[in-house]
Amino acid sequence: MSGLDLADLAAHPHDLTPKPPTASRVEMTQLVLPNNANNRGTAFGGQVMAWIDIAAAVAAARHSNGACVTASIDAVDFVRPIERGHVVVLRAQVNYVGRSSMEIGVRVEGEVFGGGRYHATTAYTTFVALDEHGHPRPVPPLDLQTDEDRRRHDAARERMEYRKKRRAARQARSSSP
Ligand SMILES: CC(C)(COP(=O)(O)OP(=O)(O)OC[C@H]1O[C@@H](n2cnc3c(N)ncnc32)[C@H](O)[C@@H]1OP(=O)(O)O)[C@@H](O)C(=O)NCCC(=O)NCCS
Repeated sequence: MSGLDLADLAAHPHDLTPKPPTASRVEMTQLVLPNNANNRGTAFGGQVMAWIDIAAAVAAARHSNGACVTASIDAVDFVRPIERGHVVVLRAQVNYVGRSSMEIGVRVEGEVFGGGRYHATTAYTTFVALDEHGHPRPVPPLDLQTDEDRRRHDAARERMEYRKKRRAARQARSSSP
C-alpha cells in the first residue's frame, strides 16, 4: 500500500448498516496463460492463491466499505489441477463477520471453452478491516437472508473459533520463556 493513504481506500468506513452476502459477492475470471502454468501444463498453486487473495480482498473491502488486509489463509484444498488454456472462475463470498474480521470463502472452478466447469480449489480466508491509522475497525454485521447463508455462517463460525484458539496458542508459545 506504499504511496496510498488508507483513508483514500475507504468509501464509507464508519457505515455499519448490515449487508447481505450478495452485496459483496465477487465473481472473477482469469485465463491460465503459459506464464501461469508449471511444467506439467497446469496452473501454479501460488498463482491460484494470488487470484484467491484478490477475489477475497475485493469481497472484504466491499462488505466493510474500505481497506482490509489478509490476516490468514487456511484450508486451501487443491482438489483438481486447472489446465493451461482453461478459464478460471473464482467466486468469493463473506461467510461470517466478527468485530473487525471477516471470513471470505472462495470457490475456484476450471472451465473448458464451450464445455462444462469443474471444481478445482476451495479456500477460506480471513481479512481484517483497517481504519485510517492502520488499526482494526468494526465492520457491518452480515444480514443472513437464506438457509444457505445461515449454513455457511454456522460452519464459518466454527472455523473462526478454531482460528482464535490457534492464535491464542501461538501467542502463548511466543510469550513463554
Ligand atoms: C491482521 C492484523 C491487522 C491484526 O492486528 P492485531 O493488532 O493483531 O488486531 P487484533 O488482535 O485486535 O485482532 C483484530 C481481529 O483480527 C483477527 N485476527 C488477527 N489475527 C488473525 C489471524 N491470524 N487469523 C484470523 N483472524 C485474525 C482477530 O481475531 C480479531 O477479530 P475480531 O475483531 O473480529 O474479533 C495484523 O496482525 C497485521 O497487520 N497483520 C499483517 C497483515 C498483512 O501484512 N497481510 C498481508 C498483506 S495484505
